[in-house]
Amino acid sequence: SGAARPRLTFLGTGYLGATYAICFAELGYEVLGFDVDKAKIAMLSEGQVPFHEPGLDELLRKNLASGKLRFSTSYEEVADFGDVHFICVGTPQRADGMAADLSYVESAVTNLAPHLKRKALIVGKSTVPVGTAEWIEQLVRRHAPADAGVEVAWSPEFLQEGFAVEDVLRPNRIIVGVRSEWANAMLYAAHKGVFDLAMTEDREVPVVVTDFATAELVKVAANAFLATKISFINAMAEVCEAAGADVTLLARAIGYDPRIGNKFLRAGVGFGGGCLPKDIRAFQARAQELGAGEALRFLHEVDLINQRRRQRVVQLAAELLERPYGPAGPDLSGVRVAVLGATFKPNSDDVRDSPALSIVRKLARSGAQVNVYDPEGMENAKREVGDVSYTKALTEAVAGADLVCVLTEWEEFRNADPQALGELVAGRKVIDGRNCLDPVVWTAAGWEYRGMGRPVFS
Ligand code: UGA
Repeated sequence: SGAARPRLTFLGTGYLGATYAICFAELGYEVLGFDVDKAKIAMLSEGQVPFHEPGLDELLRKNLASGKLRFSTSYEEVADFGDVHFICVGTPQRADGMAADLSYVESAVTNLAPHLKRKALIVGKSTVPVGTAEWIEQLVRRHAPADAGVEVAWSPEFLQEGFAVEDVLRPNRIIVGVRSEWANAMLYAAHKGVFDLAMTEDREVPVVVTDFATAELVKVAANAFLATKISFINAMAEVCEAAGADVTLLARAIGYDPRIGNKFLRAGVGFGGGCLPKDIRAFQARAQELGAGEALRFLHEVDLINQRRRQRVVQLAAELLERPYGPAGPDLSGVRVAVLGATFKPNSDDVRDSPALSIVRKLARSGAQVNVYDPEGMENAKREVGDVSYTKALTEAVAGADLVCVLTEWEEFRNADPQALGELVAGRKVIDGRNCLDPVVWTAAGWEYRGMGRPVFS
């Protein structure tokens, strides 16, 4: 085996690793997915994806059947099998602060390295603080057999939940952080399937070859930019609320300028998920360590704007229900609120740092009786927030409600018939936390409508 058709392993079969393993088998590579979690490996081996991602189940089953894809819990097997080993383990926020916890990365590398008997490439994909690739290189030097000549590279990924298959098969760029020609050639071979697919579709995938530090920074810089873009439009929403303007029209109007662009300018309850919130915090912590903390001070503001949007929903609830809003928040006791949406975005079952659940907690703390409904996220939501009611259907959630809050823009909610829902509720009041409903249609159906950064419609 070698550079012609390298065999690939993916360490960590969470969101990132499982998706990559499955998609690279689909591209024609022989792939081994690894995890220390035996239950996860058993599930995947039986053809079940442990999370919700459109299209992935089918590809998993297909490539298990063809024999291109296998899963294992043995580091030794991974070392024997692979020419290129992708590190895809999690880098969560540390319990004691904002920095990233690198213990899973360290464990993967130091457990794999001693088994590497021939030349191989270890490629970092996890989101990490700048400097991690260099540190991994030292770990490899210390733990791998000296004569094996194991090398390290960095190649961050940019997949979005809900579009993960598409993002892996058809990425909009590939970043190659390398220190040698051999590593460069090997990483190219490991992505040849992606380039070949692009060629058959008459597309090009741009490649940016960089040093380690730049490759690591590309990832966090991209996420910091996206978070900033969302908080920018949410800051405009705050100003629009004060001025009686409409942020959805404002976003559309500025978005026509190609230098600004119309994507990621949806004002609402802000960003959540397993990446953006923790990444901007870890980035600040790392910049601080490097003596460049001042450069990222604005990310603190980005975080604050994002948090304030969650509180805004509670404030709007008090306003619509005509409850006083004291220093400790409003008193919503006795009020029945239907919350539609629990996941951090639609087409996902992920509730990590979900704005919807954070708002559910705030509403419950204010004394409201909360009914939650989400098409995919109920099981995960129940584990996160236990002391509220979960319902099996949209209609069940809104039955008898004094207020309806749409907090994740699932298609089911966008398509809901305001007339029919109006028959079920106790009061026709709706907060559109994602600006995903048509205020004209809902108002015409007798609803008092409040959006985010939008004027009162009547
Ligand atoms: C994000 C990035 O978009 C990916 O490029 C990156 O690879 C990934 O993190 C990662 O680091 O692994 P993801 O977390 O799947 O992907 O979610 P996004 O689609 O970026 O959405 C993040 C949050 O922002 C969601 O809560 C979404 O509702 C919110 N959002 C997004 C807005 O509030 N407004 C927008 O205009 C766009």
